[in-house]
Amino acid sequence: MPFVVAIDGPSGTGKGTVTSALAKKLNLLYIDTGATYRCVTLKLIKENINLDDKENIEKALKNINIEFKKNKILLDGEDVSLEIRKNPVNDMVAKVAELPEVRHSLVDLQRKMSEGKNVILEGRDIGTNVFPNADVKFYLDASQEERIKRRLKQNKEKGIETSEEEVRKNIKFRDESEKTRELNPLRQAEDAIYVDTTDLTIKEVEDKLYKIIKKKKHDAKWIERGYIQTKNTVFKRIARKTIKVFLASLYHIVYRVKKTGLENLEQDDGFIICSNHLNYLDAAAIVLLNKKTIRFVAKSDLYRIPIISFLGHIFDVIPIKRGKNDLASIKMCLKALRNKEIIGIFPEGTRKGIEKNVKVKNGAVFLAEKANVKIVPVGIRGNFKPFTKVYINYGKPIDINKLKNDDPNWIDTASNKVMEEIIMLTKKQQ
Ligand code: DC
Repeated sequence: MPFVVAIDGPSGTGKGTVTSALAKKLNLLYIDTGATYRCVTLKLIKENINLDDKENIEKALKNINIEFKKNKILLDGEDVSLEIRKNPVNDMVAKVAELPEVRHSLVDLQRKMSEGKNVILEGRDIGTNVFPNADVKFYLDASQEERIKRRLKQNKEKGIETSEEEVRKNIKFRDESEKTRELNPLRQAEDAIYVDTTDLTIKEVEDKLYKIIKKKKHDAKWIERGYIQTKNTVFKRIARKTIKVFLASLYHIVYRVKKTGLENLEQDDGFIICSNHLNYLDAAAIVLLNKKTIRFVAKSDLYRIPIISFLGHIFDVIPIKRGKNDLASIKMCLKALRNKEIIGIFPEGTRKGIEKNVKVKNGAVFLAEKANVKIVPVGIRGNFKPFTKVYINYGKPIDINKLKNDDPNWIDTASNKVMEEIIMLTKKQQ
């Protein structure tokens, strides 16, 4: 799986320098998305195209050829590395970057340039729009004064003549335009790491990001392995049985477990177990204290911890990337269900989700409908203090086909219904 690093932030935060250094150090392809907006701006200037001339802008976008070659940027075959950093491009680029047709076309281009590669991209909307699923996201920031100082210094080094007033005006205008524009404004992605670079040297920023990316790369490798189901070897079967017996005995020593409704697990086809989620011990209770093999769906991040990764492989836990459209995970679930296996899902998506008032996740109903299998609701009750009782109540299988209707939101409604059943089962008296 390609590895993607997204670096966003306003102008003058050191993004360019840091990104290009990190690309070399980490052997990632560097894509300066700002340069693509600059190239389009230069092309429009050269071809005398007005910013309200939609038709000719679209034509220009169709014919444009932007290439990144070593330290050069080529526009239609010509080296424009310096020209795109000067006026009039500087003054116009923010306006050009606001145009929807330009944004759509360049976002497509940036994605194409990155396709199948390990990349590091810098810009304004990489983590929020171009690659919302990027493996690592940073938002670099610095005070406006510091950024003006840096830009002046950088221009001087590049031999570009500009006055402080000019730079100040340009940065202020661009900050305002980039943050307030309608389409893909500059903002920090929720999962981006915020780095204030005001008092840091470039080297310090580089080192900080390098360490984080290195760790994420390492984690990504372990997580990726989680998506490869290991063969059901004799070793795996013996390990699973031994671990199960050992941990189940421990479980029985520590908790007084009472199970009801076990007959609901007797089915010829595969099915989905949906349970409430109090803590990690509840999934363990369902998996360990069951004669049947149940494969839980768990957040993929768990696979980055070696011992959990080992257990995950032994118990064929299906990883899922939270909050993302994880097709690989969906495929694994469907394959398992069609193979008549049992999978376990927490519709709350997180621990004590109901208490936190989270929206019930609809993945279980989606999968049940796709694979045409039933859902067995499970209510777990207990405070999980040693030597107290833990109740595991299995409910009657729910036929999702009976909850299906023409309402476009039926999956959400059906998921709430499943959750209601689960909550009722948590209250069941023995
Ligand atoms: O990073 P830079 O200064 O070279 O960017 C040039 C312009 O392009 C800047 O005004 C913001 C815009 N831009 C954008 O809107 N989205 C991006 N992903 C990258 C740059």
